[in-house]
Amino acid sequence: MKKVDETRIEELLGKLTLEEKIGMLHGAELFQTKGVERLGIPPLKMSDGPMGVRKEFQPSQWIPAGTTDDYVTYLPSNSALAATWNRNLAYETGKVLGEEARGRGKDVILAPGINIKRSPLNGRNFEYMSEDPRLIEEMVVPLIKGIQEFDVAACVKHFVANNQETERLWIDTEVEERTLREIYFPGFKASIEKGEAHSIMGAYNLFRGVHCCQSNYLLNDVLREEWGFDGVVVSDWGGVHDTKEAAESGLDIEMSVTPDFNEYYMADPLLKAVNAGEISEEYVDKKVRNILRTMLRLNMLGEDKKNRISGTYNTAEHRETVLLAARESLVLLKNEENLLPLNKSELTKIAVIGQNAEKIHSNGGGSAEIKALYEISPLMGLKTSLGGNVEIKYAKGYYVPTVEEQKELNWQQHSLERKKVLTETEEAEAKIKQKKAEEESRKQGKILLDEAVALAKEADKVIVIGGLNHDFDVEGKDRQDMLLPYNQDTLINEILKVNPNAVIVIVAGSPVQMSTWSDKAKAIVWSWYGGMEGGKALAEVLLGCVNPSGKLPETFPMKLEDSPAHIYGNFGDVKTLIYKEGLNVGYRYFDTQNVDPDFCFGHGLSYTEFEYSDMEVRVEEASSNDDLLVNVNLNVKNTGKVDGAEVVQIYVANKDASVWCPSHELKGFEKLFLKAGEEKSVNVTLHKNSFSYYDTDEKSFKVEAGEYELQAASSSRDIRLRKSVKINKEYLHQ
Ligand code: BGC
Repeated sequence: MKKVDETRIEELLGKLTLEEKIGMLHGAELFQTKGVERLGIPPLKMSDGPMGVRKEFQPSQWIPAGTTDDYVTYLPSNSALAATWNRNLAYETGKVLGEEARGRGKDVILAPGINIKRSPLNGRNFEYMSEDPRLIEEMVVPLIKGIQEFDVAACVKHFVANNQETERLWIDTEVEERTLREIYFPGFKASIEKGEAHSIMGAYNLFRGVHCCQSNYLLNDVLREEWGFDGVVVSDWGGVHDTKEAAESGLDIEMSVTPDFNEYYMADPLLKAVNAGEISEEYVDKKVRNILRTMLRLNMLGEDKKNRISGTYNTAEHRETVLLAARESLVLLKNEENLLPLNKSELTKIAVIGQNAEKIHSNGGGSAEIKALYEISPLMGLKTSLGGNVEIKYAKGYYVPTVEEQKELNWQQHSLERKKVLTETEEAEAKIKQKKAEEESRKQGKILLDEAVALAKEADKVIVIGGLNHDFDVEGKDRQDMLLPYNQDTLINEILKVNPNAVIVIVAGSPVQMSTWSDKAKAIVWSWYGGMEGGKALAEVLLGCVNPSGKLPETFPMKLEDSPAHIYGNFGDVKTLIYKEGLNVGYRYFDTQNVDPDFCFGHGLSYTEFEYSDMEVRVEEASSNDDLLVNVNLNVKNTGKVDGAEVVQIYVANKDASVWCPSHELKGFEKLFLKAGEEKSVNVTLHKNSFSYYDTDEKSFKVEAGEYELQAASSSRDIRLRKSVKINKEYLHQ
């Protein structure tokens, strides 16, 4: 972490009254704390979130300020960014977010979200990166560095085990230590130790019986003691429930959703408790030090302000970067008979079917919503790419009922209230209403389906663009199942009957069940929420102007029942969430237990082919505990006719493990851009943390002596080359 002059902190601290100090520890507006004007200490201004800087709100009400100067660049979601497997793009995207946050006058940007995708149903999966901790680490570190280049703090969220939205404030999670250390901690640890994130957000849920935002174990023992974090811990909005516990944990700032700012646990109640001698003022001082230190790091105090970067937003460069990220995030799941790319010169009449072709997603999702300067829909992307000589006809294809609760302005405040238990009459009324709505949906849906099928019959090319939207990929609730909503399975099956060459595009932030049609469809493209240029990027991929190079950062199961969190663990409306599946998260489960997914982790096709050859592995062991280097070398050749990019994935399989280990784990990757016919060598160096497991007795990561297989792969299930090596000694590390 950037060193600061600690004497400046002590000097300021000495001048602050207790009231002033406590004013710095809680929200004084919905998105900012109180400053101390007489000492030149400004408030800390925060804003969401991962997909761009959120719109302005009124200071104490969840009502948009309604100004026209808070439109911004809308970035691809973190799931999209992870699918690029491109560290440099993560860095460049981070720079866009950091520069825009600063340009909008913010000090802390409440991003990135890096919780593990434990279940396909988590409503916030779209905001998160992956099921794999190593991929998260590799992508989040450059992202944070990019953000923080602009004198803005990244606030990594939500620490920790915040893997569902149902009962998000009250759910208690139980994760055993090895799983915690190997799966749920690494992204956060890397964010702090390597990314040097200036701030971190505690999660809403409880962890081992204590709310994360006031957990001494998480915030003091792990975060501050073990990882050496000396920046700011911010609570999630409304995540604090007890003054003493919060004050004595490593939390620094309590934020919440209600306008009674002085009533917050870390406001007047804390002042009273300190004055009464129930809580030591030393806890308050520690927090103020962390805040002042962060302000110094951000050039917010005294003369430093003159050097503070001013930032900007909505630049042409930012739009160019998000387009690059959107392009590389698209995943070509299937492409039989080289159906894609479509040959532009042969196109005369295209049918585009499905409401995600025209849907604007930026304004939804919860706190990740964006007031986008613009958003190019897939339909607009296709139309602007093809121009007036190609006839593009659009049919909605499926019926989307309006969701009433979405109109609620104060959803954020209300989302923290416990669900109302309905009376019998209310329940009966709700059922009748639902039945009526379902009948209406069926009727409307049938009309739209028939219209779409008729259109598909008369077009030369058919593109279905469906999937989810932010009624499903949304903060505050989880999906009930993995099915495509709005009867889309029927639509896709019917379209494939009349046009077996229809291209299927799914826009979503979480896996959906595709197995009723995925074997029939010849071409399937996966698009995440791709940001303001997402529709353009999609059109470029469909038309072959861009060769797709995204790879799945998570497993797409055939069906929910195959998902380990649901088979072994539990999920949803339960009191305690027990992560009984342990390390069996994502491909660690599917590959070890030989359960076939629909599409596996790391999968993604290209319009060209890549050949792997000449794998060599060199182990360098020295006498000290510190030196284990394993160098992996191989060559990759683009054997096709077009330029393209391949993500070479390096997995490690522990062959002699004395404890249970997944069949293999991703430990490194490199994305290579290769011209048609070009060959390049790939060099990946692995360290001891690529061969270790967490030993709960030793309270340390341990590399055991023994045989390890290194695999060079194009996906977790497409291993092209293997080489075994021996490691001769044991190593320990934290
Ligand atoms: C979300 C956070 C967000 C905060 C502020 C909460 O509802 O969980 O991710 O940063 O609100 O909007």
